[in-house]
Amino acid sequence: MTEENVYQVADWKGQSGERWVTYQARLDAMMAVFGQAAIEAAAPATGERVLDVGCGTGASSLDLAARVGAGGHVLGVDISEPLIGRARARAPQDMPVLFQVADASSTELPEGAFDILFSRFGVMFFDDPTAAFAHMRRALKPGARVAFVCWRGMAENDWVRLPMGAIKGILPPTAPPGPEAPGPFSFGDQGRVARILTAAGFTDVAIAPFDASIPFGKGETRDAALDDAVKMTLEVGPLARSLADQPDDIRARASAAVRAVFAGCPGERSVMINGAAWIVTARNPAS
Ligand SMILES: C[S@@+](CC[C@H](N)C(=O)[O-])C[C@H]1O[C@@H](n2cnc3c(N)ncnc32)[C@H](O)[C@@H]1O
Repeated sequence: MTEENVYQVADWKGQSGERWVTYQARLDAMMAVFGQAAIEAAAPATGERVLDVGCGTGASSLDLAARVGAGGHVLGVDISEPLIGRARARAPQDMPVLFQVADASSTELPEGAFDILFSRFGVMFFDDPTAAFAHMRRALKPGARVAFVCWRGMAENDWVRLPMGAIKGILPPTAPPGPEAPGPFSFGDQGRVARILTAAGFTDVAIAPFDASIPFGKGETRDAALDDAVKMTLEVGPLARSLADQPDDIRARASAAVRAVFAGCPGERSVMINGAAWIVTARNPAS
C-alpha cells in the first residue's frame, strides 16, 4: 500500500461519484445543517442569480432556487457526470435551476452574471485554489457575495479522526497528506482560506466556526445504527477507497475497530459524530 492510499483524494468522476449517488439521501441528511448555515450566510434574495460550485447531486442548488424564486436563477456546476445526472433527475421542471458538468476552476462562465458564489463542501479540491477563485470571481457581478462551508482540520472532525485512529495498526502506517493538498481538509487553516480569497481579489473575508453533530448511523436499534455508521464509513466515508482493495480479514478487523470506537459516540437509534466546519463569507469589490 502506498502512502497516498489511506488518504486518497476522492475520484469524483468515478467510483466516489457513483457511491455519492447511491447514498445521496443519507449524505444530504448528514450535510444539511452545514448547508443551511451557509445558505443563511449567503442570504439569497428573490430574483438573485447564484453559482453553486461543486454542487454534487444538487440539494443546495434546489434550496437556493426555492429562495431566489422564479425571477432568479441557480447554476450548479460539478465535475462529476453521475452526480450532475442525479441533480438533473431530482430537479422539478419548474425550478429556476440548471446543472452543468464542468471544472469550475477553468470552465467558461458567463461574465459578471451572478449575485452569489455559493458552495457546500465543494471548493476544497482545486489544484490551484487562488487561480480557481480568481477565475470564478469573473463570473460575479460587482459587489456580489461569496458564502461557502468547508471542513476545518481533520483532527477536529471526529467522523474522520475516530475511524482513522481506529485502523492504526490494522493497515500499514501512512503519513497524512500535506495540509494544503487538495482534499476535504485543505481549507482547515482559516489563515490560508483568507489568503486565497484575498489573493483572488475578494474583500471583506469573514470566517466563523460552525460545529454540528452529524447523524452518521441510523437504525431501529443502537446496534443497527452502529452497523450502519460502519457501513457508511467503509462505503462512502474516509476509509472507503483505502479499504476497497484490502482482503476480507483486514476489512473485517477494520470494521470491528471502527465499530468499537463509534460505540463511544452518543445516540439511541443513531450514531451522532461531531463535525467541525468554517462558514466563509467574502465580497467581490464593487468596481
Ligand atoms: C464533498 S462533495 C459536495 C457536493 C455537494 N456540494 C453537496 O453538498 O452535496 C464535493 C463536490 O465537489 C465536486 N468537485 C470537485 N472538484 C471540482 C471542480 N474542479 N469543479 C467542479 N466541481 C468539483 C465533486 O465532484 C463533488 O461533487
